[in-house]
Amino acid sequence: MTQDELKTLVGQAALHYVEAGSIVGVGTGSTVNKFIDALATMKDRIAGAVSSSVASTERLQALGIKVFDATEVDELGVYIDGADEIDHAGHMVKGGGAALTREKIVAAQSRKFVCIADESKLVQALGHFPLPVEVIPMAAKRIARQFAAMGGTATVRLKNGAPLVTDNGQHILDVTGLKITDPLAFESQVNQWPGVVTVGVFAHQKAQVCLLGTTDGVKTLT
Ligand code: A5P
Repeated sequence: MTQDELKTLVGQAALHYVEAGSIVGVGTGSTVNKFIDALATMKDRIAGAVSSSVASTERLQALGIKVFDATEVDELGVYIDGADEIDHAGHMVKGGGAALTREKIVAAQSRKFVCIADESKLVQALGHFPLPVEVIPMAAKRIARQFAAMGGTATVRLKNGAPLVTDNGQHILDVTGLKITDPLAFESQVNQWPGVVTVGVFAHQKAQVCLLGTTDGVKTLT
């Protein structure tokens, strides 16, 4: 099975967690796009979605799914999103699609995080995928020096030769060379640095369920 087929498989499997009449939290990325396509098949049985990015909002609306602003909803039952890495405890690295801040906000608003991923995303320890960190541009150089003091190398993410600008008008640092042995402590520490908007470690908002697409079918990790 190709990676694309594995993404389709977990995107469809995630429908199992969508309750009739509910508003669903929807993440961002190529795996979530498969979920959105699957969600369209039951659009008449849900109230709508809260989206974590402009890209997902546009896809949801194009398929006729109503998108609510996060401020219109108190709590969501389930948030469904992909990951760049996930460990066996459900800690993740996210932000490869630059949507990490809104993803963390919608995840925090949800009772359950269901991660959908192909098996290449499952790791023993986080840190191989370059860690995305959304930052206020004026703080980027100092934050890069703070990562350097931890052994990391931070690079400003570019798009068409210029710094990528997120949906929130900020920049992304991608940090390599980090060892994230304690994801909860790491996330808390980096969150305190002035100018950090969001660090792409999701440990406080970890996944309760991971639907992993494998060549043997979908495995459910809890
Ligand atoms: C978006 O910012 C990310 O957090 C995505 O959820 C993550 O990069 C997974 O994306 P894919 O499903 O495209 O691999």
